[in-house]
Amino acid sequence: MTARRLLLLNGPNLNLLGTRQPEVYGATTLPEIEASVTALAAELGFEVRAVQSNHEGVLIDAIHEARGDCAGIIINPGAYSHTSVAIPDALTSVELPVAEVHLSNIHRREPFRHHSYVSAVAEMVIAGAGPAGYEYAVRYLAGKLP
Ligand code: DQA
Repeated sequence: MTARRLLLLNGPNLNLLGTRQPEVYGATTLPEIEASVTALAAELGFEVRAVQSNHEGVLIDAIHEARGDCAGIIINPGAYSHTSVAIPDALTSVELPVAEVHLSNIHRREPFRHHSYVSAVAEMVIAGAGPAGYEYAVRYLAGKLP
């Protein structure tokens, strides 16, 4: 049986949430987001493994480790959304449902942020909802998993 566990993966610079460009990303810190995601997931019967890294390879290793151990992945790839082919390749390889979250509305920002390589392999994408986007992602994945 698949573990009732979700991988919550945050990419580069998201460890600085709360102080990093609060006018763009808000005042909520990453530990606060991880706590609210964990609490909501628990209500819905899921555990959460939260990983943040500024290193692409560490994110890829965490995706690989989710295979057989997690039922779905919530990912904010940060700037790697716009540059990485290896992260979507890893997501495709592990064959888990993926929800992609961006705190800001990347489509309303600089043109280089408008394209995310991860979106092509995500089941759902939320951008611009702030921290609530992570909660929508939990509800989505919990709702579709057995
Ligand atoms: C982000 C948007 C990216 O363009 C940016 O590089 C980030 C955060 C967001 O959550 O809005 O680091 O993924």
